[in-house]
Amino acid sequence: MEIMEAVKKRRSIRSFTDRPIPPKILEELKDALIWAPSAGNLQSRLFYFIFNRQMKQALVEAALHQFFIAEAPLVVGACIDLDIEQNYGKRGRDLYAIQDVSASIQNLLLVAYTHGLGTCWIGAFQEEEASRIIGVPREYRIVSLIPVGYSAEDQPAPPRNKKKDSILDIY
Ligand SMILES: Cc1cc2nc3c(=O)[nH]c(=O)nc-3n(C[C@H](O)[C@H](O)[C@H](O)COP(=O)(O)O)c2cc1C
Repeated sequence: MEIMEAVKKRRSIRSFTDRPIPPKILEELKDALIWAPSAGNLQSRLFYFIFNRQMKQALVEAALHQFFIAEAPLVVGACIDLDIEQNYGKRGRDLYAIQDVSASIQNLLLVAYTHGLGTCWIGAFQEEEASRIIGVPREYRIVSLIPVGYSAEDQPAPPRNKKKDSILDIY
């Protein structure tokens, strides 16, 4: 698949079948995460691959009852590593770590799409509750949950800004 096809056709999916994800594809999703760029190559990020049914159900409660989270065979919990502050100070903690993890997440969404998998980048959840459920250590901060699975729906593309409204050419 051409990369632009994945970039444009990937959609946020909020309904999943219970078909399991083959192990080979799971490994590729992990590769997609770790091969993303990061500030100083410090890779200030950590990911949980959550298959446990009870934990996924508990995360639904933490995520304002976004029930589709528990439908997906896999939920990825994406965290930033606050230890980056040692190297890059406040800018590292506030900006670099979030960019590190976001680069990985976008890789994940696109690679998942090329394998026919649906994903949804979820930011709306009670952070303390999600950390407690997963057992995230204090030096990390959970920023996103990403259910991954075979889609049970077709989603139309939501509109995007016109290029001229979001991108300014400077010569
Ligand atoms: C940081 C971030 C947080 C998001 N949080 C949620 C969320 O909590 N629940 C949800 O259903 N979608 C969430 N989304 C998905 C967006 O709603 C979606 O990407 C947007 O509507 C564009 O649709 P598309 O992904 O199909 O192109 C989030 C996306 C991002 C990047």
